[in-house]
Amino acid sequence: ATGLVADARGRPLRDLRISVTDRCNFRCSYCMPKEVFDKNYQYLPHASLLSFEEITRVARQFLAHGVRKIRLTGGEPLLRKNIEILVSQLAGLRTVEGTPPELTLTTNGSLLARKARSLKEAGLQRVTVSLDGLDDAVFRRMNDVDFPVAEVLEGIAAAREAGLGPIKVNMVVKRGTNEHEILPMARHFRGTGIVLRFIEYMDVGATNGWRMDEVMPSAEVRARLAAEFPLAQLEASAPGETAERWGYADGAGEVGFISSVTQAFCGDCNRARLSTEGKVYLCLFAGNGYDLRSLLRGGATDEELASAIGHIWQGRDDHYSELRGTMAADTGSGGRRVEMSYIGG
Ligand code: GTP
Ligand code: 5AD
Ligand code: SF4
Ligand code: SF4
Repeated sequence: ATGLVADARGRPLRDLRISVTDRCNFRCSYCMPKEVFDKNYQYLPHASLLSFEEITRVARQFLAHGVRKIRLTGGEPLLRKNIEILVSQLAGLRTVEGTPPELTLTTNGSLLARKARSLKEAGLQRVTVSLDGLDDAVFRRMNDVDFPVAEVLEGIAAAREAGLGPIKVNMVVKRGTNEHEILPMARHFRGTGIVLRFIEYMDVGATNGWRMDEVMPSAEVRARLAAEFPLAQLEASAPGETAERWGYADGAGEVGFISSVTQAFCGDCNRARLSTEGKVYLCLFAGNGYDLRSLLRGGATDEELASAIGHIWQGRDDHYSELRGTMAADTGSGGRRVEMSYIGG
């Protein structure tokens, strides 16, 4: 039942993104707009969350199918109580090659100053921090909970001191909102070893009111950057990578561009997503997931679990970003789409 698998488009399974909570202490308008995620919003009840033991058991079977990298996401993953315990359980797993999986986490950085050291000690290797601007007023407006940028910068510094690198910083660029932060962000992070990545604002979920005119295409971001700092394209460091890499010509490091809207990268997408309640999603834009929790809680053996995962992956044909804007993009799941805060990006 185990062994390497390819999906219907010949893509292997390499990355597992595990969402550990659907909650977040930020309300970024492109992800959890306040008007929708208000005090009446129904988050998942505790009993429906996979336990750490259940997550680790599922992850072990994914590794048996070729997964090499595990990323924890949310919502905000550091809000999940005792997340260090899960990290240490996952760090004890092995890939089919017998090596530890690459273990990383995407966070908004708000709790990182407090948690960086314990995460490292538990076996986390790297972190990616979301940061949409350096200007305090712009940043407070974007997280929409008045969170100060200085605390996220302290979190990044703590991650660095703890050895959670190489660190990446994700900046979602929204035209008219934070485009003026592109150059200050680049100036701030160049030469530090931290890789800044510019992300095109995506039409994830159904609540963020996405409009094409708020997307700033990566080509435009790159042109603005190149006007001040000459850039040269670098080779991909892994197949199926989300970001295109560009290096500063003066040797001050590199930046990345994640261009899901203008330059889809579905062709070799090797990422599976496990939701907080144990459903497997085959695409960030999928409407439905495949329930593993009922297998887990219904007494399935490891073989049965592994075989289910293999079958789910083999049936995968998802390639939403290539279809975006066409009729076919809307029909697959009846137009329904999972929320970013539920699936973790
Ligand atoms: P690295 O391993 O560091 O390269 O991380 P990553 O880019 O795979 O993950 P991260 O959580 O940092 O996500 C960066 C951005 O890419 C976020 O906006 C994600 O929503 C987006 N993203 C990640 N994977 C996919 C994907 O498979 N498809 C699309 N369309 N976007 C993705
Ligand atoms: N478009 C692009 N990126 C998004 N993220 C959250 N919502 C969106 C969106 N609509 C980013 C976050 C985080 C990563 C997991 O996804 O900023 O860095
Ligand atoms: Fe929270 Fe990240 Fe979504 Fe912002 S993008 S609301 S920090 S989960
Ligand atoms: Fe993979 Fe779906 Fe993203 Fe395409 S849109 S890269 S298939 S997750």
